[in-house]
Amino acid sequence: MCSDACASVRSAGNSSPAYRAKPAYSSRPGSFTRVAHNGPVTTTLDAPAPALRIGPLALRAPVVLAPMAGITNVAFRQLCREQETRHSGTEAAGLYVCEMVTARALVERHPDTLHMVTFAPQEQPRSLQLYTVDPATTANAVRMIADEDLADHIDMNFGCPVPKVTRKGGGAALPYKRRLFAQIVRAAVRAAEPAGIPITVKFRIGIDAEHHTHLDAGRIAAAEGAVAIALHARTAAQRYSGTADWAEIARLKEHVTEVPVLGNGDIFDAQDAALMMAQTGCDGVVVGRGCLGRPWLFAELAAALTGAPAPTPPTLGEVADVLRRHAELLAAHHGADRGLRDLRKHMAWYLRGFPVGSALRQQLALVSHLDELDDLLNQLDQDVPFPADAQGPRGRQGSPGKVALPAGWLNDPEDVTVPEGAEIDSSGG
Ligand SMILES: Cc1cc2nc3c(=O)[nH]c(=O)nc-3n(C[C@H](O)[C@H](O)[C@H](O)COP(=O)(O)O)c2cc1C
Repeated sequence: MCSDACASVRSAGNSSPAYRAKPAYSSRPGSFTRVAHNGPVTTTLDAPAPALRIGPLALRAPVVLAPMAGITNVAFRQLCREQETRHSGTEAAGLYVCEMVTARALVERHPDTLHMVTFAPQEQPRSLQLYTVDPATTANAVRMIADEDLADHIDMNFGCPVPKVTRKGGGAALPYKRRLFAQIVRAAVRAAEPAGIPITVKFRIGIDAEHHTHLDAGRIAAAEGAVAIALHARTAAQRYSGTADWAEIARLKEHVTEVPVLGNGDIFDAQDAALMMAQTGCDGVVVGRGCLGRPWLFAELAAALTGAPAPTPPTLGEVADVLRRHAELLAAHHGADRGLRDLRKHMAWYLRGFPVGSALRQQLALVSHLDELDDLLNQLDQDVPFPADAQGPRGRQGSPGKVALPAGWLNDPEDVTVPEGAEIDSSGG
């Protein structure tokens, strides 16, 4: 199962490890032991995982920050990159994807959308995610990105499970229309080609258990010139519930051999990343919710996958410093007022598991000025070590549900009619 891309990743112990048996871990650098229900399984990265090539982009660590609407703005990306480089002492080794923008809003130059396309001066590569449903608008948006030098990489989002989007045929519903999907990817690739901008495509397993689209989507995206594909291993019907089905990442990797296949879903620490690579043979990992309130996770992931020593988890005082830096970066991006309001949603993630009283937590969750934030952070017990309770799943989970689709959507997968009204302002991936 483990193919060329993870030749250096070896699993030992139990001969047939069950996918996603949630482990208790012990670890030393490069070696991860999970105790699954059927016995211990040791995954050893006995050589660094191979570097990941995404078209012209070479990533020293096969780690990608998942695009997350409302989260992965320039402030958060910069924070993650700083954490990674502070530990490694080198340039950031992973890829950090901007929050999604819609192709239509971009070509119409909506001010909010243009503001979202903000990159830090040293940010390389500048990675942008586009949501789109229509080949013509896609081509226009990609041409605009190329002509105005807005980004170095474009990822395309076909994973959004939000009912108001799938009901119109957008997001995770779209790959079911495989010819339309092919036209959209082709339009992006052709428009990006003159500028040498690589296109990647991110999608889910499918609409629901009866309508899987990932194998077709992967094959089509590769055939149309996408240079890598990423699978969030859930169906749209699952939304964020249950566990990601890593076996489908392995299937996709076996099915699509022309381009790197990235695995996504339920990586909450470096051990998970190593296990996903070992169990599925994927070429890299895409990590979303695990980094909420833990931007240093990328330092841990990059270290684990490049064979470097693991960083020491931060004390509460160090977490407060990161939180303060996040506030500063958000204030620079959004202005102090909106920046501090935006910070509030990160507060519970940062403080998770730490012994912080409810009154102080509440004050922090309502903070509105940097000075006030400083006062509150000073009240924290700086020396508290990183708590075990902060490990494991975090971020949205939700429950599964029937996927809303346009009437007759499933009747004709070859139909190329562009869905109407399926453009959105924000996405849930
Ligand atoms: C708050 C939030 C916003 C998201 N926004 C996007 C998005 O704009 N585009 C996208 O492709 N996926 C989006 N996703 C999905 C993530 O990129 C990722 O596929 C998903 O969270 C599974 O990975 P994880 O288990 O590492 O979190 C979002 C997820 C969350 C939690």
